Amino acid sequence: MGLPTNVSLRGEEALQAYFPSVKGIPVADTITIIDDRTGKQVTVPITDGVIPSTALRELDPDLRVYDPAFFSTAACKSAITYLDGDAGILRYRGYPIEQLAEKSSYLEVAYLLLNGELPTATQLEQWQYEITHRTMIHENMRKRFVDGFHYDAHPMGMFVSATAALGTFYTDAKDIFDKESLDRQITRLVAKVPTIAAMCYRFSSGLPFVYPDNGRGYAENFLNMMFRVGDDYSVNPTLARAMDVLFVLHADHEQNCGTTAMRVVSSANSDPYTATAAAASALYGPLHGGANEAVVRMLEEIKSIENVPAFIQSVKDGNGRLMGFGHRVYKNYDPRATIIKKTAYDVFDVTGKNPLLDIALKLEEVALSDDYFVSRKLYPNVDFYSGLIYQALGFPVDMFTVLFAIPRTVGWLAHMQELLADKDQKISRPRQWYTGAPERDYVPVANRK
Ligand code: CMC
Repeated sequence: MGLPTNVSLRGEEALQAYFPSVKGIPVADTITIIDDRTGKQVTVPITDGVIPSTALRELDPDLRVYDPAFFSTAACKSAITYLDGDAGILRYRGYPIEQLAEKSSYLEVAYLLLNGELPTATQLEQWQYEITHRTMIHENMRKRFVDGFHYDAHPMGMFVSATAALGTFYTDAKDIFDKESLDRQITRLVAKVPTIAAMCYRFSSGLPFVYPDNGRGYAENFLNMMFRVGDDYSVNPTLARAMDVLFVLHADHEQNCGTTAMRVVSSANSDPYTATAAAASALYGPLHGGANEAVVRMLEEIKSIENVPAFIQSVKDGNGRLMGFGHRVYKNYDPRATIIKKTAYDVFDVTGKNPLLDIALKLEEVALSDDYFVSRKLYPNVDFYSGLIYQALGFPVDMFTVLFAIPRTVGWLAHMQELLADKDQKISRPRQWYTGAPERDYVPVANRK
């Protein structure tokens, strides 16, 4: 009999799959590892599908697990975000993303991520007040720091640098073990990232800076700082709500590349501003948050529906990737993509349809009926439709990753907070599998061939 290939089976379920005749015999959720070199063995519990690496250290302290890109490594315990990639489930602090996107607001979700519970009416009012009254940035940030960039600097490069620079304006930035101070830095960052983002955009477009307006909500204020021209500008409420929903959807996503960067840098006890800049640097990459930008560039390159089959074929032939498709964890439709697709139609009702939508829909249709994508479980991810909304809202493509970084800032900070309180954590320091040259003697340059 061939062994079942489903390695996720455990305990009694696994025993019955291998040996159906022993049905009914309870099996312990443990794993036993035997070192065949010495015959030594250890048995450790499997808790929530996780085994402690101390088991291996017990067998042999010099033994290493080779796990490039952390496919099988849980580097921390976390109570912030739950994700089941096979079932397409995403929850913040236990609340389904679908309910939060429909009923909540970004600032409420930000409070939830940081504090573990939804705020009461009084707490929400207080939190909104604190955020709203911290949206200003020091004038020198704009006049001396940002004005030093080249006129065509990428807004995401500016955002990364400006976020790190912001910390230099606060003498208490480094007091991360003083809870009041850490909370203050977190509030400052959540409040000021939209201002920084809009400032970078206005600078790169040669437009005058628009100051934050305390009378507006978080997303509405951001849109106002981005696009205001003259006195009679008003933000359409449907568009402000769409922006807020996109912020909710991007607020956290457990241990992705950017969050891992945040945790690694925070584990060295760096301040929240430089750690956020490190996380934003990871997000900048086209395989991560840079994908929304890459999707729109790809759709523009495809140009028309007729070119879709040829484009899909060229991806299958190994010429690049279908951007906005695939995910390390989701092996089913990304639940955020479903909500974003619906939000796109709400936005297009106001702005008119983005002409790239038809190409995107055709790409999705062709890819989802093609064995290459189906067999690899490649579905649209959060970035596939978000770029189309951003473009319809008037954002230039260069700003797309910045739009991801604004809401993700709170997720990064929630992880930093959790890490600093976690007694299991120490400075991050993975080991390596050395594959370089063995010891050899230095050869003077004159004697080298
Ligand atoms: N287009 C074509 N083929 C793909 C794609 C794609 N988008 N994604 C994965 N594959 C193929 C890949 O070539 C490989 O095939 P094979 O087994 O024949 O070598 C297989 O699928 C597995 O790919 P992988 O690179 O091992 O998977 P991964 O988990 O390391 O990568 C990913 C995940 C998101 C980096 C990848 O799917 C990708 O590059 N997608 C396009 C970029 C993108 O949309 N990124 C946004 C991710 S969601 C937002 C975020 O988290 O930041």
